Amino acid sequence: MLVLECRNVFKKIGHHVIVSDLSFSLNEGDILGFIGPNGAGKTTSIKMMVGLQSLSGGSIKIFGYDIRKDFTKAIRQVGAIVENPDMYMYLTGYENLKIAASFYQIDASRIDEVVRMVGLEGRIHEKVKNYSLGMRQRLGIAASILHHPKLLILDEPLNGLDPEGIRELKDILLRLAHEDKMAIIVSSHILSELESFCNRVCIFSRGHVLKNATIEEIKKITEKEVYQLEVSSTKLDSILSSYLVIDEAHIELSSTKENIVNILKALLLNDVLVYEVKKKVLGLEDVFLKVMEASHDF
Ligand SMILES: Nc1ncnc2c1ncn2[C@@H]1O[C@H](COP(=O)(O)OP(=O)(O)O)[C@@H](O)[C@H]1O
Ligand SMILES: [Mg+2]
Repeated sequence: MLVLECRNVFKKIGHHVIVSDLSFSLNEGDILGFIGPNGAGKTTSIKMMVGLQSLSGGSIKIFGYDIRKDFTKAIRQVGAIVENPDMYMYLTGYENLKIAASFYQIDASRIDEVVRMVGLEGRIHEKVKNYSLGMRQRLGIAASILHHPKLLILDEPLNGLDPEGIRELKDILLRLAHEDKMAIIVSSHILSELESFCNRVCIFSRGHVLKNATIEEIKKITEKEVYQLEVSSTKLDSILSSYLVIDEAHIELSSTKENIVNILKALLLNDVLVYEVKKKVLGLEDVFLKVMEASHDF
């Protein structure tokens, strides 16, 4: 089921174009990674989706409700943390949630439910000032899902978290997407951490969307066959047309899976011994760099 649809979203502040053309859609259960360096336009895009900034052009629909024409209906389906979760530091986690719940008609049993969902049962009656950053982040998520939104948007939620905090957050988001069928957007400039839990990515640079793809499509790019070979000699000019010497025993080359067999045959026929053939796995980071490089060619 379609949850969010952004079409040709455009944002100009003064003479400055901040988001030039953002189009993508999101279904329930999707986790979309919004990826790009600082200043790329991620926060501005998110602010437009949650009604904190106006659009200069294009449209955003949430459950079919246009954010400009049906703002209240559209925004009722959204939970979000933009920049930092707002919290009263001298109140307990529970008291913070009670305040958030008072904005909607939400009973105590739902508060207990979201507390369990984010794994804060043991600490919810402590003051927020004693929470770790990861716990604050989780409390922020608990507050933003109190009203059962179908779309959850988190702006840079991984910032400053330690590996354990990241893992906990990741588990919560995966559960919300899989069990509660929420659609989730997570922005980040930390690429490697998104790879393992997003199923879609939108790669941004300077207000442009460079690539909008499923994680499978990205993986296809990352599976672009680069092989590392351990060989008895790296002087192979007479045998191979292009390869990269890594050190005295290793080379790297691009090849299709089918052709690597011919390359190995040629090496062996020329008395070059091959001790190991390894397919190099490219991460999201590599794809990002490739996409960025390609965009500079325009
Ligand atoms: N209110 C504003 N007025 C003018 N420029 C802005 C405003 N908000 C953001 N920008 C500019 O827009 C660009 C994108 O910012 P932002 O959306 O915060 O990027 P990101 O979240 O990807 O780091 C930046 O160059 C920033 O300086
Ligand atoms: Mg930002």
